[in-house]
Amino acid sequence: MNRIGIIGAMEEEVNQLKERMQVREAVQIASMEFVLGSLEGKEVVVVRCGIGKVNAAICTQVLADQYQVDCIINTGVAGALYQKLNIGDIVVSTDALQHDMDATGFGYPMGVIPRMETSIFEADRGLLEAARKTCEEVNPDIQVFAGRIVSGDQFISDKETKERLIRQFQGYCTEMEGAAIAQAAWLNQIPFLIIRAISDKADNSAEMDYGEFEAKAIEHTVKLVGALVLRL
Ligand code: ADE
Repeated sequence: MNRIGIIGAMEEEVNQLKERMQVREAVQIASMEFVLGSLEGKEVVVVRCGIGKVNAAICTQVLADQYQVDCIINTGVAGALYQKLNIGDIVVSTDALQHDMDATGFGYPMGVIPRMETSIFEADRGLLEAARKTCEEVNPDIQVFAGRIVSGDQFISDKETKERLIRQFQGYCTEMEGAAIAQAAWLNQIPFLIIRAISDKADNSAEMDYGEFEAKAIEHTVKLVGALVLRL
């Protein structure tokens, strides 16, 4: 890997990575700060994209066009869908889709993007296996699962929506950027992986849990991303 792009939605998700970097330059593009330098001796570009799918897709396109990254890692927190997940556990993406893509009025199933070859974007297998193994080594106290990540421009905080996402999409966790990054990466033929730590259970307790557990969850992703980059 010559250059790795690392995207987090929020400052909290990327700050600790930036602190561990030797920074060469920081450039503002599309109101986002792209920080180029080395992390664990590897060339990386770390960027906070902001919340939601539009921010995430724009950020990914800049990484493709301006930085020619060889792969993209999206790191952050998510709400749990898969029942065995505990707060603090990690999900690495097998694939990702947009749960709020709705062309059902045209007869398409929920989540299907009309006139695209696929709506389910597969993560890079090599990155996935490397992340899973690395996570077991550096975060031995938590569980790591490989599974589908479903994204939408919605913070999921009710039991009914959570159950629908499980039923319709068999998602392991839900967040607000991953599938947009996955789609933009796929369009540019860039391998990607989404790594998310569970901050809440995407149910009626989500808002409270999120505030309490976000920082702890991020600790696990920061540890994992640092050690993974070293391996790539
Ligand atoms: N990110 C963290 N928790 C989330 C949730 N419950 N819904 C959407 N995005 C999230």
